[in-house]
Amino acid sequence: MSRFKVTKAVIPVAGLGTRFLPATKAMPKEMLPLIDKPVIQYVVEEAVAAGLEDVLMVTGRNKNALENHFDRVAELEMNLEQKGDTDRLQKVMASTELANIHYVRQGDPRGLGHAVLRAKHHIADHSFALLLGDDVMDARDVLLTKMLALHESTGENIVALMEVDPDQIHLYGCVVTEGEVVDGVVRVTGLIEKPKKEEAPSNLAVIGRYVLRPEIFDILEEVKPGRGNEIQLTDALMIAAQNRDRAGGVLGVVFDGRRYDTGDKLDFIKATLRLGVDREDIGQDLRDWLKDFNKEI
Ligand code: UTP
Repeated sequence: MSRFKVTKAVIPVAGLGTRFLPATKAMPKEMLPLIDKPVIQYVVEEAVAAGLEDVLMVTGRNKNALENHFDRVAELEMNLEQKGDTDRLQKVMASTELANIHYVRQGDPRGLGHAVLRAKHHIADHSFALLLGDDVMDARDVLLTKMLALHESTGENIVALMEVDPDQIHLYGCVVTEGEVVDGVVRVTGLIEKPKKEEAPSNLAVIGRYVLRPEIFDILEEVKPGRGNEIQLTDALMIAAQNRDRAGGVLGVVFDGRRYDTGDKLDFIKATLRLGVDREDIGQDLRDWLKDFNKEI
């Protein structure tokens, strides 16, 4: 097996979700449903589809709803079975049988880098995939599989990138690149967390998928709290990008598919509609309604 073959995914779900308050007061934002499945299930399904069945969730307060969603509910299963409702029974069982899910607590939400560091013990000295629990990539568009293959063949840390409007770059981590984008891949030589528009080195934003080498844990342990007094993964990746001998450098995969930041209210609504119009059960009705609604607004 190649040294850089990845089998484990880490999904941090311990953020405070302040952009979605008060809905996220007693429930993690990753449990908000897109149509009839919580956001987190789409993310776990993506990991499993890419061959990663060992999933570690880094949870915070309110983790019960998440754990329960991936656990069995005997009473509900029995009730559906007795009614002969096999369709719904299958849907209920799907999340239970999806993956081997492990949990670790973050304690204080001290930033994404701090959340990733909590995975050190479970991951040990292997490379791993990191999927942000509120970022949904449309299953019809390829990203993670390409990133895993690139990691396996190069041994470099891989980040997912997306071109954004310059007015939006201050919301993201932004990269400094070297050379051209070839087949959707570009060398990353620097990263800046949430730069001002005037100071942004590019319009390429880091989005919520990474394939990382285990050396990132040692770097995260050294990183001082950065922006917002949080331990920033971006700062650790900056060190990896500039020390190729130590941690393997950083490559970016530019994604031009459909991506939804479900922690953002507007993007959440767009995701619901995008996924809804293609659904077999409600798609046509939703399309018809949207056409009428369009005349009203
Ligand atoms: P975000 O910055 O989107 O999460 O982090 P947040 O802080 O919950 O969001 P807002 O801005 O307050 O609405 C990206 C991902 O990292 C996780 C979040 O759960 C999300 O999946 N995260 C963030 C942690 O697990 N721990 C942290 O300390 C911070």
